[in-house]
Amino acid sequence: MAFLESSDLLRKEHLEILRVAEHLSQALALAGKEDFTARQQGLAGLRVLRPALLGVSRHCCCEEGVLESPYHRYLDGQRFEQVDGQHKAIHRLVLAFLRDVLYATADSIADSVPQGEELVEKIREHIAYEENLLDYIEELCLVTT
Ligand SMILES: [Fe+2]
Ligand SMILES: [Fe+2]
Repeated sequence: MAFLESSDLLRKEHLEILRVAEHLSQALALAGKEDFTARQQGLAGLRVLRPALLGVSRHCCCEEGVLESPYHRYLDGQRFEQVDGQHKAIHRLVLAFLRDVLYATADSIADSVPQGEELVEKIREHIAYEENLLDYIEELCLVTT
């Protein structure tokens, strides 16, 4: 597959992941409120996000493991390791957060909000970093073709 085509797919995936981060952020805002009903809604929202968060985790397990990934082909060791480190950190945070949500109640969920916010932040940072990498690789391809 031509790089620009696969870059397009990766960027579409990034938009999906950013949407998940936005929904997560909204559910966390409710989960952290003083009002019990709001916390219940927040917890329900977080539970609904489980499949989407597992999807983010899959992204983190698979993306740079795919041999035809542009990250393999075009990135130097340092950039590649940065992506790899971010994927591993997000993967760990997603699993820990989902475990917390699974056993949380509307009262205890507020304790997990900072961890969830850290996850939102890491996801957004990671996607911004990868978008920059894709810009860099696209430029590289334009120069070398
Ligand atoms: Fe990506
Ligand atoms: Fe990624």
